[in-house]
Amino acid sequence: MKTNIRSSRIGGFHKLAVDQRVKAVAEFAGLSLDEQAHLLNTGNLPSDMADHLIENVVGTMNIPLGIATNMRIDGLDWLVPMASEESSVVAAVCNAARQCYDNGGFVTSMSGTLMIAQIQLVGVRDPEHARIRILERKAEVENLCNECDPILVNLGGGFRDLEVRVLKTQSGPMVITHLIVDTRDAMGANAVNTMAEAIAPRISEWTGGQTNLRILSNLADRRLARARCIWRTQDIGGESVRDGMISAYHFADADPYRAATHNKGIMNGISAVVLATGNDTRAVEAGAHAYAARKGHYGSLTRWEVTAEGDLAGSLEVPMAVGLVGGATKLHPTARIALKILGVASAEQLARVIAAVGLAQNFSALKALATTGIQKGHMALHAQNIAMMAGAVGEEIDHVAQALIQAGKVRLDLAEKALNDLRSR
Ligand code: MEV
Repeated sequence: MKTNIRSSRIGGFHKLAVDQRVKAVAEFAGLSLDEQAHLLNTGNLPSDMADHLIENVVGTMNIPLGIATNMRIDGLDWLVPMASEESSVVAAVCNAARQCYDNGGFVTSMSGTLMIAQIQLVGVRDPEHARIRILERKAEVENLCNECDPILVNLGGGFRDLEVRVLKTQSGPMVITHLIVDTRDAMGANAVNTMAEAIAPRISEWTGGQTNLRILSNLADRRLARARCIWRTQDIGGESVRDGMISAYHFADADPYRAATHNKGIMNGISAVVLATGNDTRAVEAGAHAYAARKGHYGSLTRWEVTAEGDLAGSLEVPMAVGLVGGATKLHPTARIALKILGVASAEQLARVIAAVGLAQNFSALKALATTGIQKGHMALHAQNIAMMAGAVGEEIDHVAQALIQAGKVRLDLAEKALNDLRSR
């Protein structure tokens, strides 16, 4: 076996310029000059901006940006940018939206723009007493929190409420304080984390305990985006399709193995818009899955029913901590353009559009699964990917993909052969 003499201990790596880091990595991994040049071509995200967004940057990772059409939400038409590497995801939203467009499209709402920051207090002998002592200081907590972010307060946000819980844990009782803060158009992580860090020493003072963690909760259940929609049974292929979709939903809601896949499909849509707008996909995903398990059983994020008229009614309720200000949302040039395409006036509006996309995604997945299966649609796009892997470019991609579909086999070796045949014609 070859001995590995390469060292990952590259002192001062973070201080190097991007091109110097690429050289260091190239030496380590044996990257060719072409591969190094590829990394240095950062496309439409300038290298110095990338270098400021994260650490140790050596390039950018381009993901296709597609547009979901046919979306009618709250009586208005929207074009929705979606960033995803997965085929069929954008098409699924367009198809679902087309099938409900004439019936009015999606209706959305939001519970508010409240985020929660948690402060963990340990080492108190009388946790119930400590809880009350903290709650007594609500006015002081409010002032301290609002002093941390006067701009947010000027924009109509700021501290809203104080909740304190006594938690039984493996290391004894803990007193957990929740600061509930309206973060308006910001996702709010920075705002609430700053507040939690400012309040923590006071909590120690008031209770005699020690504060430990001070951090937001991604279970943003005071920031729920809701979407609902009715698909007329005649527009979706009849009662058997409708009933198959309801049965698929019942399966997901009863079985975590299926619910994980069902919700993953919903997140295909949600995360694609979250990413396109420069928001934090992991925060939204963590919130969604925690919310799906909030009753102690991991179930479906969507609900599907038959209306009194016999139509298919779908709804989705999901935590949606997204913002229009702060982080990559304002910095990333593509995110800025994506937000312009959307034309949303507030973080709330963005969250509501995203919920509609999640519901649309789930509609298409359930419909495909309950009828033809997803492979048929997937295969057409997969064939194109395989054609590109075989080296097809431009018009060749469709020719090669067609050849694979006609052969009924989507394989790389067959794609290479089809491409050779095409080029030698
Ligand atoms: C694939 O990325 C997503 C689906 O598996 C979702 C689902 O099964 O509901 C099609």
